[in-house]
Amino acid sequence: MKRVQILAGLVTAVLAIMLVGCGTVNEATETAVANAQPSSNDQIEISYTTPAQQEGPYYPVDKPADRDNDLTVLNGAAGGPAGDVIEFGGTLYDRNGRAIPNATIEIWQTDANGVYQHPDDPSTAQRDMNFQFYGEAMTDENGAYSFRTVFPGEYEPRPRHIHFKVKLNGETLITSQFYFASDNSGQPAPLIITLTPGEDAAGNTIQTGQRDIILNVAP
Ligand SMILES: [Fe+2]
Repeated sequence: MKRVQILAGLVTAVLAIMLVGCGTVNEATETAVANAQPSSNDQIEISYTTPAQQEGPYYPVDKPADRDNDLTVLNGAAGGPAGDVIEFGGTLYDRNGRAIPNATIEIWQTDANGVYQHPDDPSTAQRDMNFQFYGEAMTDENGAYSFRTVFPGEYEPRPRHIHFKVKLNGETLITSQFYFASDNSGQPAPLIITLTPGEDAAGNTIQTGQRDIILNVAP
């Protein structure tokens, strides 16, 4: 992982007191929101870069054969996972505000009960066997990505979160974590997803959110 230069001393000072579990904050930059949906040739004016955070202890050791961007459907499973279905997505940008196509975004998270699929999680035997736990999305020509998953459960002492990595041509550009506005987690704004009621492709009412990832790189 490349280390992102720390730009905002004040933010860093605030984050320094939030060192908990696998969510230890080690890098931060400005906070704000991107405000445009560009075509691949366009450039937005960026107003934050996404801070990196720890990988944590539960990065998958055995990635599932089924590793698409819909974690609610696991090939061979008896049914769907427990929990509330959520969908979120956004655009991946570089530090010049240009969309990054063909990057792989990985996510991994707990099931709705806060259990990981990982040998070091003492509760892993009780995990939801109908949940995919890990998925990958490739950014399209406009840098867009999306995931369908379940709202992650809580495990002490962490706020609810979804871990993610961005990889391009085999190189990891960032490792970090998404959080949720409903949790009042105190985490940096560029990592927080605000979920609101929406509809999925089948017309079901689910919670949906949006989060652009802006990397302090210029690939
Ligand atoms: Fe975690």
